[in-house]
Amino acid sequence: MSNTETTAVDKGEKRASFTGRIGYVMAAAGSAIGLGNIWRFPYLAAKYGGAVFLIVYLISVYTFGYVLITSETVIGRKTKKSPVGAFRHFGNTKAHSFGGWINAIIPMLIAPYYSVIGGWVLYYMFSYMQGQVKELGGDNAFTNFISSGTSVEFWFLVFAVCTIAVIFFGVQNGVERVSKVLLPVLVVLSVVVCIYSCTRPGAIDGIKYFFIPQMQNVSWMTFVTAIGQMFYSLSCAMGILITYGSYMKRDVSIEKSTTQVEFFDTLIAVLAGLMIIPAVFAFYGNDASQTLKAGPSLMFITMPKVFGSMGFGMAIGIVFFLLVFLAALTSSISLMESAVSTFQDELGMSRPIATLTYGGIYIVLGTLSSLGFNVLGNVKLLGMDFLDFFDFITNSVMMPIAAIAICLLVLRSVTLKGVEDEVTYDGAPFRRKKVYNFVVKYVCIAFLVIILVSSVLNAFGVIHM
Ligand code: PFF
Repeated sequence: MSNTETTAVDKGEKRASFTGRIGYVMAAAGSAIGLGNIWRFPYLAAKYGGAVFLIVYLISVYTFGYVLITSETVIGRKTKKSPVGAFRHFGNTKAHSFGGWINAIIPMLIAPYYSVIGGWVLYYMFSYMQGQVKELGGDNAFTNFISSGTSVEFWFLVFAVCTIAVIFFGVQNGVERVSKVLLPVLVVLSVVVCIYSCTRPGAIDGIKYFFIPQMQNVSWMTFVTAIGQMFYSLSCAMGILITYGSYMKRDVSIEKSTTQVEFFDTLIAVLAGLMIIPAVFAFYGNDASQTLKAGPSLMFITMPKVFGSMGFGMAIGIVFFLLVFLAALTSSISLMESAVSTFQDELGMSRPIATLTYGGIYIVLGTLSSLGFNVLGNVKLLGMDFLDFFDFITNSVMMPIAAIAICLLVLRSVTLKGVEDEVTYDGAPFRRKKVYNFVVKYVCIAFLVIILVSSVLNAFGVIHM
């Protein structure tokens, strides 16, 4: 380790840790399962070939996803540092510093706008609780809501306070404890909504659409978007798993935990597909496939219309938005934890001071995204409002670069032998070692470059993903 580095840990403060495997798995799965699973996965699956998309997605989770989760966890656990210190542990060069900082900054930029969407979810949940089923299903309900700066900002602040409060309580008493309670609740609520959707008249066509290959919708974009979605969904390349790895005890099996995180994340993605696609088919009939392709508006415009017309609207609206809220909350907790951990490690701040300092930045950046649809509606960055801009710059540009930096760190500094030693520490298994070595050596970087180029071209309208 470089001798110039002083962190809270070096100063003798003990690093926080999860209590054991369950704690780590619940927190990492809580991070992975989020808006990406419920709102993004179903419309991408519907748009890019149903079962074909699903198969490509599954393969990429169990190859690329496996490589990235394992690498990040190994890097974090070996170094006991958040991303910047973790990269610096392996060398004090500009390249190491760049790799560390890009991984550290991504969650700092994502947490604010992600929490703005979390605020929208809270607004919908509370409105359903007040019985506004018909109003929310109205044509302009969503546009009217986001045009009001005060409402959007208010609900963002409510969501932000929930996130900050959990971070304040620390790794074991905050992040771990909350994830352990919320994740099982989320699985149960997902099953309830799934049963509701799949039993609506006409839903069977949606189930078929999801599980049968739709070859007319398959193109090479199926592959690019499925792999891109995998990064998004597993919370890879955003510093989180390095940070969570640094809290993982060395007697916990990295391979076993990774497999469980992959399982939970995929389970909720598939359940979300079964919540949304059949319900849209039941409501729209033959026009369903067109509606599903509309994409992001699905959760806030299409689903409220469906709930408004199909019985039990109020109850199912509350349950659906509650589960989306829980998913978004555990993800935003992980984003903020990674950011706060960097402040603690790099600036030697205590946890409360780091939480308050980053909390201030988080509220300012989130407010820009909240007001980007109304008060600041005229301000555009690269032609985008603030929320879309932060989403683009992190997901389409920075995350693929951060993932490339991780692969290069593994290949050049940590070494494959170093990874193996950490994974098999304490006699733990490394059954997928061959897959890991092959993918990290020969496949990952090439695909990451393809994803980077395609998503930038997509954002500038050269291609359409
Ligand atoms: N993996 C989480 C999700 O699928 O929602 C968290 C997350 C992913 C947050 C990507 C932000 C992001 F850009």
